[in-house]
Amino acid sequence: MRFGHFDDARREYVIDTPRTPLPWINYLGSEDFFSLVSNTGGGYSFYRDARLRRLTRYRYNNSPLDMDGHRIYINDGGTIWNPGWQPAKTELDRYTCRHGLGYTILQGEKNGIAAAQELFVPRGDACEIDRLTLENKTAAPRTLDVFSYVEFCLWDAMDDSSNFQRNFSTGEVEVVESAIYHKTEYRERRDHYAVFWANTPVTSFDTSRDAFCGVYGGPAAPEAVKAGHCSNSIAHGWAPVGAHHFHLTLAPGEKKSIIFGLGYIENPVGEKFSAPGIINKARAEAMMARYATDAQVDAARRALADYWQELLSGWQLTSGEEKLDRMVSLWNQYQCMVTFNMSRSASYYESGIGRGMGFRDSCQDLLGFVHMIPSRARERILDIAATQFEDGSTYHQYQPLTKKGNSDVGSGFNDDPLWLIACTAAYLRETGDWSILDEPVAFDNDVTRAQSLMEHLRRSFRYTHTHLGPHGLPLIGRADWNDCLNLNCFSEHPGESFQITGPSEGPVAESVFIAGMFVKYGREYAELCDHLHLTEEAASARTAIDAVEQATLTAGWDGAWFRRAYDAFGAPVGSRECDEGQIFIEPQGMCVMAGIGRETGQAEAALKSVEERLDTPYGVVLLQPAYTTYRLNLGEISSYPPGYKENAGIFCHNNPWISCAETVLGHGDRAFAVYKKTCPAYIEDISEIHRTEPYVYSQMVAGRDAPTFGEAKNSWLTGTAAWTFVNVSQYILGIQPTLDGLRVDPCIPHTLAGYTVTRRYRGAVYHIRVENPHAVQKGVQSVTVNGAPIAGTLLPLAKAGESVEVSVILG
Ligand code: BGC
Repeated sequence: MRFGHFDDARREYVIDTPRTPLPWINYLGSEDFFSLVSNTGGGYSFYRDARLRRLTRYRYNNSPLDMDGHRIYINDGGTIWNPGWQPAKTELDRYTCRHGLGYTILQGEKNGIAAAQELFVPRGDACEIDRLTLENKTAAPRTLDVFSYVEFCLWDAMDDSSNFQRNFSTGEVEVVESAIYHKTEYRERRDHYAVFWANTPVTSFDTSRDAFCGVYGGPAAPEAVKAGHCSNSIAHGWAPVGAHHFHLTLAPGEKKSIIFGLGYIENPVGEKFSAPGIINKARAEAMMARYATDAQVDAARRALADYWQELLSGWQLTSGEEKLDRMVSLWNQYQCMVTFNMSRSASYYESGIGRGMGFRDSCQDLLGFVHMIPSRARERILDIAATQFEDGSTYHQYQPLTKKGNSDVGSGFNDDPLWLIACTAAYLRETGDWSILDEPVAFDNDVTRAQSLMEHLRRSFRYTHTHLGPHGLPLIGRADWNDCLNLNCFSEHPGESFQITGPSEGPVAESVFIAGMFVKYGREYAELCDHLHLTEEAASARTAIDAVEQATLTAGWDGAWFRRAYDAFGAPVGSRECDEGQIFIEPQGMCVMAGIGRETGQAEAALKSVEERLDTPYGVVLLQPAYTTYRLNLGEISSYPPGYKENAGIFCHNNPWISCAETVLGHGDRAFAVYKKTCPAYIEDISEIHRTEPYVYSQMVAGRDAPTFGEAKNSWLTGTAAWTFVNVSQYILGIQPTLDGLRVDPCIPHTLAGYTVTRRYRGAVYHIRVENPHAVQKGVQSVTVNGAPIAGTLLPLAKAGESVEVSVILG
């Protein structure tokens, strides 16, 4: 069942009912100011950091769900409604929500009044613009009371939701005409305030939640909205809010717009006040003046559309498979931008106060983003690398505002260092910008200990190389990619964090997954050494890699698949010797992607085992059989009920690894079949089962052991976005950036007759036409570039600004 449809021409997903199975959200903003907005107008806003600079409140886990947001109320002679249905939930005569690229439009109609609420974050400004357009579609004049409403967060969202003995007393506001200023803590250390304004004179306003909602009221039926006017309240402590009220009349057929804005303003310390205690509003006034008219707002919307048009024009697909085209050309890349910006910080499942930027997460997010804005990827790599320690290990997370490593969680996740090689190598393949390797980068954020980025990569490689266990496989530390496989933790007491309990290092527990990574990314590291003429270093790196590869093929092999790990007692995990958890997905994907066992037939066998044991109609589950009891030696993974999360859920992030691995063996049909199972556009029809947004990936889908098999959770912020884009663009469609230029080497379903790709690469634009006249899955028969045949599949590098015509015949 569907709850909407893709509007490909407008690049929107159009939702036809507010009663989606879960709130279906969109992200506004792509630089500093961000808002989350749901299909019923729920959500919140923040500047850069969802924890430390939160502008508006959002109550997760609320019942009813999704009550806090960017609200507009219309009181039409006692009938109170919202253009997006929530929170009043008055039945609308018409409703649509259009989620587009960086904007959302909520359209509601009731008793002949149409209201459109258009929300977006303009390029280059730290604010959200909400334009409300009202239309009287009847033949009689209509008088309405219209209200806006946001509830301010007292900046630090963690403190805001816990330290009530303080923060019930700190709230402060100022009001000047239609501008409501939220200035809590500005009197002392803060140099920033929020402004919620309207471009139209207000009839009345409120800034106290108790006054607007009523102490025992709430956003569903605020007292002020019921009364038809606000009370010009000034908040002193408690809960500061912003609410505007307009008493207006619309002539028959008349349309009227009101432009609202929610802005973040930072003042230099010396310019904080215009008079004692009075905030300096000059910057806010300038911001308001930029969006005072419809023409200005239209221009800002156009600039946003142009920006996305330009960004996406660098990777466009036409294949005749409309679902594939819309995912590759649009939604998958859009989600990659969001994961690049957010990491795992703020979504409807990530509260913004839990995790900042994940080290491994951000490195992987970059893989799907680097082609869009390489300069931002460069900056990110340097930020991430600065949270590495001198021994090559890394902080597991860092805060986006401070860019400092998070010492609560610390380090010890032994896959982290290798992801730095993965993302740097991807950046180099995309850009050819070797200067990045010479950049001085701090260790542990201490610039006095800066070394070149290349030295950071060297330490990453060395860290793994010098942390091998009894079988010659890499030690796992606290965990590897699978945060929940905690082999050195042994947590017996509720409330202990699996992430920090137990030693971060153990001399015995080893990871076959990290072994696969070491072979794959170690080889990429060795290629960088080759390029820099570090011949001896490259050779000794390859010797170390070969040894780990051998260990993987022997100690890491279980007979028909790769083992997952060895626990702290040296017992295998992910082996037929185990009573449960006999086979895991991760090492099969990573080891085969690394090419391990390709010659020996082990890779083939491993993928066969995946298909036989882990595959389901909704995707490939993480392990089988699911753990039915808690295992002290395994940790969090066995804390989940069977079928959920890492305990045999369909963890979407590693499904593309299997698809990539299938292409390594030339299995285009199977690779595409795996791709489609979790691909949002392909499963739109089962939205009532899947429940999350049908335009983006979710982190997890309940596995076949779960009572809710097929139900997704944790949409948006997942490494699935980047890995799927890498899979479909490079492994399946075969447009592969290399250190020496673009290679075209597809591995596609035999039924795909051909496709064209427009790919911007190092400043040139390649128009690539692939034809598959013999219905093969893999193999390139011929390549011509600008009409002339070339040998092999590596395209000669074009100069920036050039346009190149490429024709590829498979066979
Ligand atoms: C984390 C990833 C991790 C994955 C598997 C996600 O929630 O963000 O870093 O690899 O779970 O445990």
